[in-house]
Amino acid sequence: MDMERWRGRVALVTGASSGIGAAVAAGLYRAGLKVAVCARRLEKLEDVRRSLDATEEQMLCMQVDLRSEESILSMFEHIRKVWGGVDVLVNNAGLGHNASLIDGDVGLWREMLDVNVLALCICTQQAVQDMLRRGQEGHVIHLSSMSGHRVPKASGVYSASKYAVRSLTEGLRKELREREANIRISSISPGFVQTEFAEKYHQSKEAAEEIYGQYQTLRAEDLAETVCFVLSAPAHMQVHDILMRPTSQES
Ligand SMILES: NC(=O)c1ccc[n+]([C@@H]2O[C@H](COP(=O)([O-])OP(=O)(O)OC[C@H]3O[C@@H](n4cnc5c(N)ncnc54)[C@H](OP(=O)(O)O)[C@@H]3O)[C@@H](O)[C@H]2O)c1
Repeated sequence: MDMERWRGRVALVTGASSGIGAAVAAGLYRAGLKVAVCARRLEKLEDVRRSLDATEEQMLCMQVDLRSEESILSMFEHIRKVWGGVDVLVNNAGLGHNASLIDGDVGLWREMLDVNVLALCICTQQAVQDMLRRGQEGHVIHLSSMSGHRVPKASGVYSASKYAVRSLTEGLRKELREREANIRISSISPGFVQTEFAEKYHQSKEAAEEIYGQYQTLRAEDLAETVCFVLSAPAHMQVHDILMRPTSQES
């Protein structure tokens, strides 16, 4: 994978305090990008930075609650002040709740839609404005899900949020083409990846162990490599969506 043209450029990875985001941030840092990371758990972001021996000048850790538009806007202002703006945005932050359509809690639905959809839109808008202003090659990558391609049992709202990401990928592609912008948009749709996701979804460590114990699931590092693959594709080639499952996953 040729990541040379991205060396020294600025990436923002949302939700990098655990799981896929932490692995993607590490992958981009190792590829020579300056990496801004955000999440609510600042200490976890700093653990990621320390584990890479990165300095604060190489990895910018920001405590942000993506449910707040104001927090998102101040994060982008801060990145502009420090590094001039964002060239690569990885919209990774996201969550699921086991909150059914018939008797699920509306607050849990709202959190999924706020983070998985609305925050992704606001971050995309901010980053694309930076990319247009900077005039260099830019790339937006959405972390979607296989749940954006078929609806698993009892996950109507989570799936809806990922179907929305699928629509937002194509919507942005059309807008970028209309402007002839030097910016690509890609989506990555994994099946089960072993992270904190399942424990939070089911509010149960045991349920998560059962899901991740059935067979070899995807590793967060597999996703980090996929992000680098998408970025390293030649400029004339836009990867639109990558659907990937653990080999043994049936659904
Ligand atoms: N794991 C899977 O099987 C799987 C499969 C398909 C798709 N995905 C997608 O992959 C992405 C990453 O998930 P993961 O598996 O790596 O799960 P994870 O380990 O739970 O990571 C989720 C990340 O999102 C951040 N986040 C959640 N709510 C936030 C908020 N309000 N403000 C800021 N950050 C927030 C979390 O940080 P804080 O809690 O510190 O704020 C954390 O860093 C998600 O979009 C998910 O839908 C996961």
